[in-house]
Amino acid sequence: MAERHMSVANARWQIRAERPADYDIVETEGIFDVRNPLLLTPNAPGANRRFVVLDAGIPRHHAAALERYFECHGIRAQILRLPAGEQNKNLQTYLTIQRALDAFPFHRRDEPIIVVGGGVLCDVAGFAASCFRRGVPHIRIPTTLMAYVDAAVGVKTGFNFDEHKNRIGSFTPPLRVLLDRQFLDSLPRRHILNGVCEILKLAIIKDAALFARLEAHGAGCIASRFQDTQSRLVLNQAIDGMLAELAPNLFEDELARAVDFGHTLSYGLEHIRSDLLHGEAVLLDMVISTFIARRRHLLPEADATRILHLFDTLGIVPQTVHLDIERMWQSLHERTEHRNGLQRVPLPASVGQCVFVNDITRDEIEMAVRSVMNHPVRAILESPPERRSA
Ligand SMILES: NC(=O)c1ccc[n+]([C@@H]2O[C@H](COP(=O)([O-])OP(=O)(O)OC[C@H]3O[C@@H](n4cnc5c(N)ncnc54)[C@H](O)[C@@H]3O)[C@@H](O)[C@H]2O)c1
Repeated sequence: MAERHMSVANARWQIRAERPADYDIVETEGIFDVRNPLLLTPNAPGANRRFVVLDAGIPRHHAAALERYFECHGIRAQILRLPAGEQNKNLQTYLTIQRALDAFPFHRRDEPIIVVGGGVLCDVAGFAASCFRRGVPHIRIPTTLMAYVDAAVGVKTGFNFDEHKNRIGSFTPPLRVLLDRQFLDSLPRRHILNGVCEILKLAIIKDAALFARLEAHGAGCIASRFQDTQSRLVLNQAIDGMLAELAPNLFEDELARAVDFGHTLSYGLEHIRSDLLHGEAVLLDMVISTFIARRRHLLPEADATRILHLFDTLGIVPQTVHLDIERMWQSLHERTEHRNGLQRVPLPASVGQCVFVNDITRDEIEMAVRSVMNHPVRAILESPPERRSA
């Protein structure tokens, strides 16, 4: 809506618009099976071209099935295979996609770009889609657990710039997200655990029932690479929780976000050249945050123990060697800027609940790091109660 105000000396126009977001996230099986129609919609007349960004790390048979799928449906597909990994989440990959898009004519409304890959390509290609011709629609098909429960289902896109993670990006809703668990079957265990850390995040700060489900079935889900029946329930419950947090605050008008649990101190640890995966850095932050919450008596000891126990049950070992007090402290400063001047750090208040704090000090981080270093998680769990509370 545009409105002209006449009562002032100089005319003034005020524009008011709402940012729409309307997309489906659809669970499916056999996404590249020629009988599956999901990739054909929207089926506008003459919409017979598709530009696909495909993660070069997924097994080759998926690429062959995708080519067969489009061939069978008379669709000309341009497939751009790109390597993923944090080191490729950069301007170069973004430009490679833009150049390839520019060389492949397609209708900017009816022939959506399709992204098949993990969080890195969902983020970079999603951003490329948001910029090409000022925005063309894109469909995401996540192939890692990290993307399945997190990166693909929200609206954030972007790439790393000048050593800063996600420094350039946009809020761009996809046209559709298609979830097919079959891709997770080929993920290395490290990448399965990486995604599990984001599921744990949700369970700890907002969903005690999901937490209990992970206690009972999490190890089985991991062993089956999320192919068994319980896994489906865990994944859908995690996505429910994620969307319950994201949907009412899609464009981050509210800067205190529970889903930022584990995403404050981790920012600096997940330095672009570090060996830590995103979920592994989030895990370290969750451990330190849990210790800080415990020291402040925000979190009952029984809940802290349950949290640490669950990491152990799932075979998730925090890589404490990467803890760096100065980096975490700088990271807290950086996130404070990002959150418009307040720390807004979510800390667990019990299993399934969190509180926000704005006054974490360097000393607290240091104390938490020393506790974790001196008493690695397993030792804390195995130590007698009087030592644990010391
Ligand atoms: N946009 C968001 O809201 C959001 C949320 C969470 C994470 N992220 C971002 O996601 C990124 C991490 O995502 P990721 O962990 O998926 O990393 P990634 O995309 O680099 O994938 C990890 C590795 O797995 C390979 N791979 C992908 N699918 C595979 C499959 N099915 N089988 C075997 N190997 C496969 C990839 O080639 C890559 O080597 C980070 O950059 C993080 O910032 C974004």
